[in-house]
Amino acid sequence: CGIVGYIGKRDVAPLLLEGLQRLEYRGYDSAGIVITSPKAAGLKMVKAKGRVRDLEARVPKRFTGTTGIAHTRWATHGAPSDINSHPHLDPENKVAVVHNGIVDNAQELRAKLEADGVVFASETDTEVITHLIARSQATSLEEKVREALKVIEGTYGIAVMHADFNDRIVVARNGSPVVLGIGEKEMFVASDVAALIAHTRQVVTLDDGEMATLKADDFRTYTTSGATTTATPETVEWEAASYDMGGHDTYMHKEISEQPDAVDRVLRGRIDDRFSTVHLGGLNLDAREARTIRRIKILGCGTSYHAGLIGAGLIESMARIPADAEPASEFRYRNPVVDPDTLYIAVSQSGETYDVLAAVQELKRKGARVLGVVNVVGSAIAREADGGVYVHAGPEVCVVSTKCFTNTVVAFALLALHLGRIRDLSVTDGKRIIEGLRKLPAQISEILESEEEIKKLAEQYAGAQSMMFIGRVRGYPVALEASLKLKEISYIHAEAYPASELKHGPLALIEPALPTVAIVPNDDLLEKNRAALEEIKARSGRILAVAHQPQEKADHTIVVPKNEDELDPILMGIPLQLFAYHTALAMGRDIDKPRNLAKSVTVE
Ligand code: G6P
Repeated sequence: CGIVGYIGKRDVAPLLLEGLQRLEYRGYDSAGIVITSPKAAGLKMVKAKGRVRDLEARVPKRFTGTTGIAHTRWATHGAPSDINSHPHLDPENKVAVVHNGIVDNAQELRAKLEADGVVFASETDTEVITHLIARSQATSLEEKVREALKVIEGTYGIAVMHADFNDRIVVARNGSPVVLGIGEKEMFVASDVAALIAHTRQVVTLDDGEMATLKADDFRTYTTSGATTTATPETVEWEAASYDMGGHDTYMHKEISEQPDAVDRVLRGRIDDRFSTVHLGGLNLDAREARTIRRIKILGCGTSYHAGLIGAGLIESMARIPADAEPASEFRYRNPVVDPDTLYIAVSQSGETYDVLAAVQELKRKGARVLGVVNVVGSAIAREADGGVYVHAGPEVCVVSTKCFTNTVVAFALLALHLGRIRDLSVTDGKRIIEGLRKLPAQISEILESEEEIKKLAEQYAGAQSMMFIGRVRGYPVALEASLKLKEISYIHAEAYPASELKHGPLALIEPALPTVAIVPNDDLLEKNRAALEEIKARSGRILAVAHQPQEKADHTIVVPKNEDELDPILMGIPLQLFAYHTALAMGRDIDKPRNLAKSVTVE
């Protein structure tokens, strides 16, 4: 879901529609806008199921105003429909609310309001907030909103307009991001800086429990209990141009291509050649503390979870600390044993994923130390963690993650090297890894140069109903991520298995119609991996290998440059991003916005 709002002097509707377009990448199924102006008698609203351009088509000619809020919705309570789209207005058209998040006690509140005679227009939980605000007897809009929020349980990022207080927008945050954009005699609000960066770089990120009032030439922040808070605007570094397609047909293609530069960025300024180690300024973990860590547990969702799996392998091999990764979504529901000697690491591109945030909060409540490996600076998870490593991938717009995945894994390599050099990794090995890391950008460029060849292969495999991905030890998370990428954007069923487990079940599936993509690095497991290829070939399975040299048993091999064994997984994933991309392209899919998926899942 996405929120964008504006108050100032400009014509608000085109501005908000453009803001919504910049949020499109997050995934949504309907959109809406409500506007007013100081002289207007009331609120004017348009909303529609479908894309922002469908909404735009419905906006009437004289839809002018200078204050407004708009929303893209991803259905949770109630199916995608015109009526369920935000904003939600009260029957008198006085109050308009847009909301990200979920009101947990919506059912109960709705029943109470209905018993009082309130007629609901939609099935959404958000409408409850509208009625609560509309019915409040308080004399200021701030107080009305505050009263409503007092009875609401759940998560929200909201923006509210009121016809009787049309000189302001009131916003509030609890668990769903709200960012204010501070302009010259104009103010913006959004759930994501992407929506406002074209207009201002000065932003204020609200904390949970914080509210703000925006007027054209002024803003103030305060808590839900009314205490004033200090908000100092920060300057966002990301360029507005980062949100443009830059000559590529899709954001995914652009982001895949950016990886040499992105990797260069995550390494920059962090390598210390004198001690063959790295500096990680934000870690907040001194050497003595680092030596007491007994275990490392990494938590993330989707692609970030896969990056965490590779990260765990890197930490185990370089720092010799037992490490594993688990989906944050699972972790938080199984009442985990929280061990004081375990270091927890939360991984998230957006820094907003609710399951990850909730896991971090639960861990912190139990006294654990939590680090973040996050892309979005100042995001909720980054703020909640005790310290961490920013992955500096730059804005990632495509719903599926590519450059951020790669940068996250590189960030883990840096962390593993840092912990390793505090513990038992030798100077020689430290140097070897550093040299390997420095080679990555050029090696990634080399892989990207074989795009044409990968495209041809993808076109050959695009007809498959299903695909198997296999890898062993370090190669297994690469297989998992490559299979996820393929299913997310091509909708081809794909599954990943450890190559070693083939004979324990999935070999039964192998036949000419089920191609296998095999990760075959030239390391100590090469012979084992080759044996797996033979087993597949013996069942007439088609094989596409990603390897350091052509594989005899494979029908096709994508050859990638060799790095250090530990760092090979970083490179082996890259051609498979292009493979998924060109498969999906050959099938005519909407690559940047795959069906049913959202960039950030900020709800449970
Ligand atoms: C969503 C996206 C995935 C992403 C996951 C975790 O499900 O569709 O592509 O990997 O969230 O996102 P995060 O921002 O926490 O890395």
